[in-house]
Formats: sequence, C-alpha cells, structure tokens
Amino acid sequence: MPASATAVGARPRKRSLLDRHAILEKNATLLLIFSFLVVTIGGIVQIAPLFYLENTIEKVEGMRPYSPLELAGREIYVREGCYVCHSQMIRPMRDEVERYGHYSLAAESMYDHPFQWGSKRTGPDLARVGGRYSDEWHLDHLRDPQSVVPESVMPKYGFLENTLIEGEYIADLMVAHRTVGVPYDDEMIAQAQADFAAQADPDADTDGVVARYPGAQVRNFDRAPGISEADALIAYLQMLGTLVDFSTFTPDASR
Ligand code: HEC
Repeated sequence: MPASATAVGARPRKRSLLDRHAILEKNATLLLIFSFLVVTIGGIVQIAPLFYLENTIEKVEGMRPYSPLELAGREIYVREGCYVCHSQMIRPMRDEVERYGHYSLAAESMYDHPFQWGSKRTGPDLARVGGRYSDEWHLDHLRDPQSVVPESVMPKYGFLENTLIEGEYIADLMVAHRTVGVPYDDEMIAQAQADFAAQADPDADTDGVVARYPGAQVRNFDRAPGISEADALIAYLQMLGTLVDFSTFTPDASR
C-alpha cells in the first residue's frame, strides 16, 4: 500500500465516465448542446457523402435533359403552379403502381431544378401522363377541364394557346440549368432556339433536335400556327414518364 493512502485504505477516486456523464444528465442545457452535437455529426456522416458519391442516383438508360421546348413547357408548369394540385412521384405501393405505372426512379427527376414531386394530389399524379391522352384531349382539357371531365375542379388555362412564345430566353435558361449540373453541351445551347422552334413545326428540319434529345416528340402540338405556351406545355406533358423503357428496365441492386 503506498504511503499516501489513508488509514481506511481509500485512495482519491479517479472520475469514471459515468460520473462525467452524470454532469450532463444534471444539466439540461449542456445535455441539449451535446445532443445537438451528436445529431449533427450523425447527420453529416450520413448525408454529406451522398453529394459526392457518383452512384447516389442510379444511371438509367433513356434519361436525358429536357429539350428546349419541353423545358419551356416545364417553366409554364411551374409558373402556373400546377404542382399545387399535381404530384410527379409514384410511390412503390400497389394502389399507386396499378393506377399510374412503374414507381418513380430517382434518375427520372435528376434533371429537374427544382423537382416537381409535389406534396398534394388534388388531381392525379402526372409523372407518367405522357402518351396517355392525345394532344387534342390536352388542348380541350386545358381550355376547359369540365368539358372533358365534368366534375373537375381544375381551373381553365385557355390563355396558354393564345400566348405565342419565341424562345428567345431559352438558351439562357439552359445555361442556368447547366450551372446546377444539367449536362447541356455548347452545341445544345447554340442550337437552343432553333431546336425550340423545330420541335413544334413538322415542316422544319427536325433531325438535329431528335439527335440531340432522343425520344423527343416532334409535331404541332396545338394544331395552330406559331408556337404557343400550350405547344410547350403539351410537349412537356407528353414526354413525362416516357423516356425510360420499363419493359427492359431492371433495377440495379448490386450497388
Ligand atoms: C386546383 C387544382 C388544379 C390545378 C391548379 C391544376 N390541376 Fe390538373 N387536374 C386537377 C384535377 C382535380 C384533375 C382531375 C380531373 C380532370 O381530369 O380534370 C386534373 C387533371 C389533370 C390532368 C389529367 C390527368 C389524368 O391522368 O387524367 C392533366 C394532364 C392536368 N390536370 C394538367 C394540369 C396542368 C398542366 C396544370 C397547370 C397548368 C394543372 N393541371 C393545374 C386539378 C388541378
């Protein structure tokens, strides 16, 4: 026994981890600060790598950036607040998959800035509405939704077909999307306004737009001369959910 020990043999006790934890447990503010720190570290460890991992979003055959006309249509969709009543996110649940089709893949909204998943379904999900109706149906429906679905509460958007657009800002918009990671190359941006016009004009030379945006549907969507906001919006609606071929798609579970 060392000389410094007391008569009863007790040595000054080292503070155990439990004692130190008791300090935290007795001090609510300290406990709050430490809990916050722990949660923050946990959060960073889980979330931060996702921004840098190449395979966070599984690459899926067929996905490509929006064509200039589709991108313009998407801008109108956002401007008119269609997302307030419509989601674009099919959840992997039986009732949704049976009604709307294959559940949405992360890759399908990888070029969406901002994404249009939505949080409210006053109307149906639109993630796979492309090809479900004809252009005429969309035109009638936008003009007067109650004319095709009498009980509809959707507002009328007839003014879209009367508003002509020329796409003079579309290249700038694509440059903005490029800054946030959408892979528009210099040629796509140089050809933006020409591609914008060609997609809605069956008489134009449409080889370029189809080569740059495989699967782009080319036609006069509103059947009227000139390019209207309805042309752009219908081009966007008709491509939604059509790029990935789900008859050949198999999820890559190996990663
Ligand atoms: C106030 C809510 C509301 C807003 C805003 C709204 N919709 Fe709708 N939409 C509905 C409802 C309800 C239906 C279902 C009845 C119908 O077909 O009209 C619907 C149906 C649709 C359908 C048919 C979907 C299907 O699978 O049958 C499309 C396409 C559509 N809306 C597009 C749009 C677009 C594009 C916009 C924006 C320009 C828009 N909606 C804005 C409520 C809304």
